[in-house]
Amino acid sequence: MTAQSTTHAMKDRPIAVFDSGVGGISVLKHIHALLPFEQLLYVADSKYAPYGNKTPAEIQARCFEIADFLIAKDAKVIVVACNTATAAAIDAMRAKYTLPNHIPIIGMEPAVKPAAEASKNGIIGVLATTGTLKSAQFAGLLESYGRNVKVVTQACVGLVECIERGEIAAENTLRLVEQYCRPLLDAGADTIVLGCTHYPFARALIEQVVGSDVTLIDTGAAVAKHLQQRLLALDLLSDNNQLTQVQFWTNSEANDAKQVISQLWGQSAEISIL
Ligand code: DGL
Repeated sequence: MTAQSTTHAMKDRPIAVFDSGVGGISVLKHIHALLPFEQLLYVADSKYAPYGNKTPAEIQARCFEIADFLIAKDAKVIVVACNTATAAAIDAMRAKYTLPNHIPIIGMEPAVKPAAEASKNGIIGVLATTGTLKSAQFAGLLESYGRNVKVVTQACVGLVECIERGEIAAENTLRLVEQYCRPLLDAGADTIVLGCTHYPFARALIEQVVGSDVTLIDTGAAVAKHLQQRLLALDLLSDNNQLTQVQFWTNSEANDAKQVISQLWGQSAEISIL
């Protein structure tokens, strides 16, 4: 193989994305829109969802198993499309994969900084999982960007499970959204961070509850942009100019697992059971 073809082969390897379940598909959509010619792999670790109530050690073990699978599929980069997993495992993943194997690991965190900048009245709300809100990484975010604003946090127990079942417009999902948004509205938040990748799928319900005066902030587009910049800097953007189908894997035991992925992805997809 010539040096030239080695380079092409490197660039044309897939971008791998994973989450505790189907939530990261909200990030995958932004990646696909920005980088339509990149080959994309997605793993939904739905059998082990939610991560939000697991220990960091349990989450790290899941992340390692999935990353090993994705690296065996020749991933050139891994996107942890999960705030909870990023908080629990990003350092361990970088130590295990980036340093020895040169696989960049892109993580994500609740958009406290953009929310603090966007807020007009200085009161922001953060909807996230218990794990994210309890993490040292989130404490660091508040320390860095939350000093000049009031930050009201709310763990949304049970909401991830609704999205995992594809219940994005259901009455029970709406009731949970009302329960979790109420304290943020009562505190006067004018900006709310969707600090879990499952929540953008409940965006219509959240908008219905909080109204149009409250700004909702989702990090999916920023993650896609950051990924593009990292690949550009590493000269790893694909030279391909043909659309490819995304490959999904799920370990969900639900009968309708494939249907839920198709519903949330909204395009044709190749879905396998892990
Ligand atoms: N989608 C996830 C996140 O961004 C994890 C949700 C969960 O499994 O609890 O935090």
